[in-house]
Amino acid sequence: MLAFVRTAIARRSLSGALVLGTALSACAAQAATYTMFRDPGCGCCLEWASHMEQGERHEVEAVDHPDMATLKAERGVPGDLRSCHTMVAAGYVIEGHVPAADVERLLAERPTGVTGLAVAGMPMGSPGMEHGDHRQPYQVIAFGPEGRSVWNSYTGS
Ligand code: CU
Ligand code: CU
Repeated sequence: MLAFVRTAIARRSLSGALVLGTALSACAAQAATYTMFRDPGCGCCLEWASHMEQGERHEVEAVDHPDMATLKAERGVPGDLRSCHTMVAAGYVIEGHVPAADVERLLAERPTGVTGLAVAGMPMGSPGMEHGDHRQPYQVIAFGPEGRSVWNSYTGS
């Protein structure tokens, strides 16, 4: 009798594990759709893409685009917040060298009114822009149709 009960429990936890495994692979498939548009002449974009992939579940697909200015305008990136690459992640626009942790927090929290994050320009020391120890201070700006706010701030050195 006892042996029968054990078998029943083992069967149940096995089917639980199968359901969990299916859910995890569905997640991974969904997360693999981040597309980063870049100018083919720029190298720091690829450095940033590998930062985004480190320790994350998703991959970043790099797509060369001949007219980044038009693409940024179409995606609603404010003119003064522009940088080199523009990534589309789960419907959000990620402009420039935004740290991966800030992107992950955006995707987890999904605050109303925010359509994207941007790090304007190319601050030294931001992900993909590490050259030596020098770090410029910079801010991650959340933007949307109703305005913008500071999403995160990083100090310099
Ligand atoms: Cu760059
Ligand atoms: Cu670049």
